[in-house]
Amino acid sequence: MTIAEYSKEKILYMLELAKEFEAKPNRHLLDGKVVATLFFEPSTRTRLSFETAANRLGARVIGFSDPKATSSSKGETLKDTVKMVSNYADIIVMRHYLEGAPRYASEVTSVPIVNAGDGSNQHPSQTMLDLYSIYKTQGTLDGLNIFLVGDLKYGRTVHSLLMAMRHFNPTFHFIAPEELRMPEEYKIYCRQQGIRYVEHSEFSEESIAGADILYMTRVQRERFTDLMEYERVKNVYILRAKMLEKTRPNMRILHPLPRVNEIAYDVDESPKAYYFQQARNGLYAREAILCDVLGISLDEVRRDRVEAQGK
Ligand code: CP
Repeated sequence: MTIAEYSKEKILYMLELAKEFEAKPNRHLLDGKVVATLFFEPSTRTRLSFETAANRLGARVIGFSDPKATSSSKGETLKDTVKMVSNYADIIVMRHYLEGAPRYASEVTSVPIVNAGDGSNQHPSQTMLDLYSIYKTQGTLDGLNIFLVGDLKYGRTVHSLLMAMRHFNPTFHFIAPEELRMPEEYKIYCRQQGIRYVEHSEFSEESIAGADILYMTRVQRERFTDLMEYERVKNVYILRAKMLEKTRPNMRILHPLPRVNEIAYDVDESPKAYYFQQARNGLYAREAILCDVLGISLDEVRRDRVEAQGK
């Protein structure tokens, strides 16, 4: 539901699980299970990677990507929709435009609910793949300089990421225009958890030179009530290849995607651009989540691989 519920040990355990699935994505661990994907908001990566994860693990997938094609367009409530789908599925992966909707759903059913993003609030499965990507590229999660750039107000991925990193002694740099600054509640959270952070509005070659991870985000048009304000800020920060010259050799650029204008296409050629591999890591992280939530342990997953090698 939220990454804040995960201990350091649990996060490291999940990364080990993801590593297992990267070594061997195709398994029969979820044969006979049904995974429902209920997406009340658009998605490419999250829905398709959860569905791919389910398919690669032997499960069947039901669900929808457009609520207009369901009875919620006739007025069926979220509660009734969830109770109905619970009759058919072993696990429900849900994205919703309302903050707290997956939490609410979990209160009306005993079938496990996975939060695939709720409004501007949280995106915990994205954070699992972000952590896996950071760990793979940096060799550690500890003591990193993480620069979060762009829409820090509405971007749920940055909210989840900073909560998860509380275990790993990070220094955050929040780079955002005035209108899209990190909300006060997350800054209070940082202070309570002893997380160092610095706020900037300048985005330049100099200001990103100390980053280990440069986490770019899209300005979330769909969250603005005032579209004039969106127009004012939408192109405020654009990362270009020439801005990377002074960055650290092992620095990596992450982005939850989709991008709009915030990363120029010339950056894609840089070895520091990691966002497409990051999205691929989503498959392994989500295989780990499905198995964990459905009660399959790391030991079972490891045993499955050893047995497969022995055949
Ligand atoms: N990163 C992410 O949530 O992408 P989608 O909206 O395409 O699922």
